Amino acid sequence: MTEADFVPDRPEDLPDSGSSKWRAPSNIALVKYWGKKKGQIPTNPSVSFTLDNSATLTELRFKRTDKVTGLPAFEVFLQGQPAPYFAPKIRSFFERILPYQPFIAQYHFEIHTENTFPHSSGIASSASGMAALALCLMDMEKSLFPSMDEDFFYQKASFLARLGSGSAARSIRGKLVHWGKQDSVPGSSDLYGIPYPLKVAPLFGSFQDTILLVDKGEKQVSSTQGHGLMKDHPFAISRFTQARSNIDALQPILQEGDLTSFIALVESEALTLHAMMMTSMPYFMLMKAGTLQIIERIWEYRRSNGEPVCFTLDAGANVHLLYPKASQVSVHTFVERELLPFCQGGEHLRDRVGNGAERC
Ligand code: DP6
Repeated sequence: MTEADFVPDRPEDLPDSGSSKWRAPSNIALVKYWGKKKGQIPTNPSVSFTLDNSATLTELRFKRTDKVTGLPAFEVFLQGQPAPYFAPKIRSFFERILPYQPFIAQYHFEIHTENTFPHSSGIASSASGMAALALCLMDMEKSLFPSMDEDFFYQKASFLARLGSGSAARSIRGKLVHWGKQDSVPGSSDLYGIPYPLKVAPLFGSFQDTILLVDKGEKQVSSTQGHGLMKDHPFAISRFTQARSNIDALQPILQEGDLTSFIALVESEALTLHAMMMTSMPYFMLMKAGTLQIIERIWEYRRSNGEPVCFTLDAGANVHLLYPKASQVSVHTFVERELLPFCQGGEHLRDRVGNGAERC
């Protein structure tokens, strides 16, 4: 598929009004996307677990308008309240997707959105939020072109979501999702995410993720700025090569359920991501003291207890604790006794691998 395949024909007629609602999950990368080229093309492929409980619900209400200005008019509401601070991000999303959905310019949109996690939790809502909005827009497109098949629907939803936020490409479909062209991954593309097409041991399908909220504040450096700093980064080339080789190394690990190698690869990816931040110019650090305290305790717990639990990080201070379902009882006790003191207000979220977005 190329970009041109996502440019639709001119529709025969356009509906006057309608609505659509989707629930899209957040995701957590195992091999990280950090660095991008023009048009939201990743500099290396990434693989993520789709989450289940952490999600965005978005309802898109559309009405045809006579005042066509080149971009759709829109209003955004978060939890029922006007949320004008989302407008710049959504406006730039509409600008980027316009060549692929030109009909949106004829509409006025009301976007009603809510997250299942607290807005100020430090959990990025851009992946789930952009994915939910892209899926609503695909419902609209499908109503114009009813013969559209399911694969194309989801592929294009991921393609559009990617234009809003790169990691949103991985919040559409599948327990594990791969995004980015890699020869060893059949069907992979830089343009959209695909359900991980290789064999995966069942234990990964029920993996658990406890998200430890170390810092719920606004980040000093956004992901988009961080990606930009990979452009002149002294270690960029080695990092992109390493990510590609980790994507390949992950294949037998996932297939065989090799938890020891899984832990080493996933933790190394998380620390490399933060090492890239610390060695950018300007350099920055998103981990907090609590992040390091938690990591040390996880290592100690693993050493003394043998439970196959590991951590990963996204672009922030919060820690994702990943473990198989079989370790759930003992890990929950460990979290409560040893890790909650490092979480803001003791806050944490219990999540697990989910199946992808759902129409509501
Ligand atoms: C560290 O998808 O948030 O979480 O494309 O600029 O919106 P934009 O960035 P974003 O970057 C996510 C980076 C990451 C790693 C990952 O999810 O792969």
